[in-house]
Amino acid sequence: MITIKTAEEIEKMKQGGKILSQVLSQVMAACVPGAHTEELDRIAREGIVKANGKPSFLHYQISDVDPPYPSTVCISINEEVVHGLATPNRVIKEGDLVGLDIGMWYEGLATDMAATVCVGKATSEARELSQDTRESLKLGLAVIKEGAWLHEISQAIEGYLAPKGYGIIRDLCGHGVGYSVHEDPQIPNYHERRHKPVKLKAGMCLAIEPMVSLGDWRIKQKDDGWTYVTADKSLAAHWEVTIVVTKSGFEFVTPWPDKV
Ligand code: MF3
Ligand code: CO
Repeated sequence: MITIKTAEEIEKMKQGGKILSQVLSQVMAACVPGAHTEELDRIAREGIVKANGKPSFLHYQISDVDPPYPSTVCISINEEVVHGLATPNRVIKEGDLVGLDIGMWYEGLATDMAATVCVGKATSEARELSQDTRESLKLGLAVIKEGAWLHEISQAIEGYLAPKGYGIIRDLCGHGVGYSVHEDPQIPNYHERRHKPVKLKAGMCLAIEPMVSLGDWRIKQKDDGWTYVTADKSLAAHWEVTIVVTKSGFEFVTPWPDKV
């Protein structure tokens, strides 16, 4: 079911989203060569808890048979697309492309966002992949307003990325968010006619999140039961914001992190 949030709920989500963006900015700033992923996770967890929020990914289960997610922030390095773990003794290296994805409960409502960091001297290919992924998200956002079709978002994202030859991850999507971590509707980053048409309405809260690779779109899951990697081991990037649809456009629930 696609939910519509009240003005009061949207206000709370925006308060939470602002905090989440600040916490993500702190994690991004700490994502430097030599940083341990556990340390990044600690910064995320402490930032959220200090602001009276609750990590929404920690212990999250996609379905009852899945293992609970063990971290506060998903840290997905290089060919890892999303849902990477803050594994002990894992160290960030110069040149890594690091996806940081974070979610929080605040005043009973969930928000969700992600950014990709090029650590130190990343290759120009890696930097462009991240910039183009973020740009596709901006173009997807630009079509949003009450009365527009959800698939116009998908088409805007795909229309920018596909001609550049990128792989657009197809097995994972953006989603509604707020009363739970993942709500309807699914928001694919590509369009096919089989996708059910959904008309956008003011008050819908959506997490839009292009996941893009330098190679093929196919992904595999690692043995840890969580981390998705590109099947061809190509580099991947991920950007995500939560927004609320309005009559004339959209408003950010999670503002862009600092220095973006
Ligand atoms: N932002 C991620 C997504 O929408 C949230 C993952 S929840 C986790 O898929 F627990 F799996 F990390
Ligand atoms: Co999400």
